[in-house]
Amino acid sequence: MSGLDKPIPMSSKRVTNLRGQAKVPGDKSISHRSLILGALSVGQTKIHGLLEGQDVIDTAKAMSSFGALVEKHENGYWTVDGFGVGGFAEPEKVIDCGNSGTGVRLIMGAMSTTNITATFTGDASLNRRPMARITEPLNLFGAKTYGRRHGKLPITVVGAASAVPITYQTPVASAQIKSSVLFAGLNTAGETIVIEKEKTRDHTERMLEGFGAEVETETTSKGHIVKVKGYPELLPQEIKVPRDPSSAAFPVCAALITEGSDVLVPNIGLNPTRSGLFETLREMNANITFENESFQGGEPVADIRAKFSPNMIGIDVPPERAASMIDEYPILSVVASFAKGKTLMREVNELRVKESDRIDAMAKGLRSNGLSIEEGEDWWSVEGREIDGVKGGGLCETFLDHRIAMSFLILGMASKSSVKIDDSSPITTSFPIFESLMAELGANFQKSEL
Ligand code: S3P
Repeated sequence: MSGLDKPIPMSSKRVTNLRGQAKVPGDKSISHRSLILGALSVGQTKIHGLLEGQDVIDTAKAMSSFGALVEKHENGYWTVDGFGVGGFAEPEKVIDCGNSGTGVRLIMGAMSTTNITATFTGDASLNRRPMARITEPLNLFGAKTYGRRHGKLPITVVGAASAVPITYQTPVASAQIKSSVLFAGLNTAGETIVIEKEKTRDHTERMLEGFGAEVETETTSKGHIVKVKGYPELLPQEIKVPRDPSSAAFPVCAALITEGSDVLVPNIGLNPTRSGLFETLREMNANITFENESFQGGEPVADIRAKFSPNMIGIDVPPERAASMIDEYPILSVVASFAKGKTLMREVNELRVKESDRIDAMAKGLRSNGLSIEEGEDWWSVEGREIDGVKGGGLCETFLDHRIAMSFLILGMASKSSVKIDDSSPITTSFPIFESLMAELGANFQKSEL
């Protein structure tokens, strides 16, 4: 999304009896990391099941601009012929990461300890998001960064000619900060250490190890500690990307709230640092079961079966679970609208700096559909109206945010009157087949006028 494309308004009507299998695309976090780590290896990495959403395509383009050969092959797999740790070539053009915070933050980290200069930008949403959380630790390595006021993109990074390793305590729970620092540590002598109070998604640690880096992790009273040794020789890998639990959340939640539904969402990555939503839904009395549990490329996977759950209850979501479901609060708030009683979501201030201010975006849209929301700076709550009690009929603004757009389309599937969103185009950033996949299950989404 450039933010300049024409908005595509869409409406979602009430449906029942969702049936079938929902084969959601590959994991977004793992897809970005596969391309970046492929570029940081010498030789050819092969990636099966790469998410072909715009965010990941923008990372693929960025890796090409830095000198990797990234190609899609006929039967769907991708290859990356990498340049190796420290082998970044200086790009001739500005690197445009589109809508993707993960893309820009991880790539800035990876190139910041190489002696080149690169300028990064993004769409209107990304250029509003905080980047000082990345530039601050990268400056400690010796990189220089020049951005707009308050550390916003566009930013020029002048990579450190000879970087010094750092020990860095992340100021907020963020896998993007952790990963950016760890990637910067690769082209740095000695050991780079990241300490995080709450453990965030650990794909970077797992994948770095898989590519042959020396990584140590431990959990102490200080928190989760990750150490990486500089100058590893990363070896190309063959990667099978598991399907994305954050995308699976949408068909799963749609099945829970629509009468008569029974949907299977196969082969979903269930890394414990990502699966907080499913735990939360089960505590709300959702009928969710895991089948065929196994391991794929170092990550636990399972098929998720979700059935209509008319007796869900609101809960106080444990704040220590926030990092493991940070992208799922918008869709959780939709399910909470159909539960009995209040669902309280605490210590979630990070939601305010995602692709949009997600508390504000969801509160506005849910209110326009007859729901009662309370909110503070770092918390919000939804008063559930039970399974048949959501009025709907609202027009929801999506603020260039894919997850806000998808959440409101799911809301319409079980509301009395249809729900409209002002723009469905951001959905392509993470879930390009969302519309057709949901239609196959039985959803009724229509492109509409505002
Ligand atoms: C991601 C980390 C999370 C998440 C984002 C993907 C990643 O962001 O919201 O969608 O792949 O590392 P933060 O690190 O900012 O919490």
